[in-house]
Amino acid sequence: YSLKNLNTFGVDVSAKYFAEVKDINDLKYAIEFAKINHFEMLFLGGGSNVLFTKDFGGLVIKLDLKGITEEIIDENTVLVTAQAGENWHQFVQYCLNKNYGGLENLSLIPGNVGTSPMQNIGAYGVEIKDRFVSCKVLNLETLEIENFTNEECKFGYRESVFKREGKGKYVILEVTFKLSRKNHQIKTEYGAIKTELEKLGVENPTIQDVSHAVINIRQSKLPDPKVTGNAGSFFKNPSIPLVQFNDLTQKFEHIPGYPNGDLVKIPAGWLIEQCGWKGKQIGNVASHKLQALVIVNATGEASGEEIFDFSTLIIDSVKEKFGIELEREVNIL
Ligand code: EPU
Repeated sequence: YSLKNLNTFGVDVSAKYFAEVKDINDLKYAIEFAKINHFEMLFLGGGSNVLFTKDFGGLVIKLDLKGITEEIIDENTVLVTAQAGENWHQFVQYCLNKNYGGLENLSLIPGNVGTSPMQNIGAYGVEIKDRFVSCKVLNLETLEIENFTNEECKFGYRESVFKREGKGKYVILEVTFKLSRKNHQIKTEYGAIKTELEKLGVENPTIQDVSHAVINIRQSKLPDPKVTGNAGSFFKNPSIPLVQFNDLTQKFEHIPGYPNGDLVKIPAGWLIEQCGWKGKQIGNVASHKLQALVIVNATGEASGEEIFDFSTLIIDSVKEKFGIELEREVNIL
């Protein structure tokens, strides 16, 4: 079964077995089927954060659970719950249409609701952990449904329990967010948003304006995966000790850094660009010409291995020039 249309890199790999599940019973059935036959299992949402480097010999289960429900808490607050298979951006738009605030900065992020907690998706000064209440998961061993609170998810920068201790143990079924119904907290500290709102001539932005600005920014520099295969940022932005940063500023006067306690976070896109990778293509793979942190399947013909090897070249050259080891953000399979 070809997975080419199920991963945003558009890599042409196949799965030996494939199932698409629309409810929990189907999901349990698929899992039991895999267990009885000793198939390895892989759960796919929007396929926007994976790089397949080879065919998958087991059962791929695509989660297609749909539905959004809400519970009004009081005049200010609403809890909104979306099933794992809801497309993230459509979900954000649903909230904005109802004038529910909190997720507008996360507009246009590819992927599904069910995978958003895995890496605590974030952009323009907001992460889902700021609005996340809890998620329901299926425990793969017991097939019981469990609940994870915000705290239990152990969210960090592009991190959660589901990427660490809980890896491979659970499937996320639905996620609940706490959103505002009025007196929205508008977050426009991120420089690019401010600039874009000025460009749009907006002085007192609504949550819909913020979403509009974010959409414009993303569309202006991030490649649309429907047109050019990619998985967004390929690497995490590294954090280095302040002393190391101070040393680097001696040699690289303009190195950008955002202090955070004893650490300084550095935009990986800058490091990669300084190494000469921005817009550079080798074979079928390139670093995006407008955002060096994004690796693209430039011809549509790239294999996962080719993309992986390209990312290794970037890691090596950043390491050599700056002594910083970039970490891949995309899940390599
Ligand atoms: N920069 C460069 N060259 C580049 C790209 C960036 O010098 O080619 C510099 C820019 O000048 C800017 C800084 O790096 O000063 C930050 O760039 P940008 O605002 O584009 O954000 P980012 O740090 O590269 C992160 C997230 C994005 C998210 C944006 C906006 C990570 C790994 N990536 O990128 O998330 O949209 O901030 O908040 O944290 C994703 O995870 O897939 C993703 C797109």
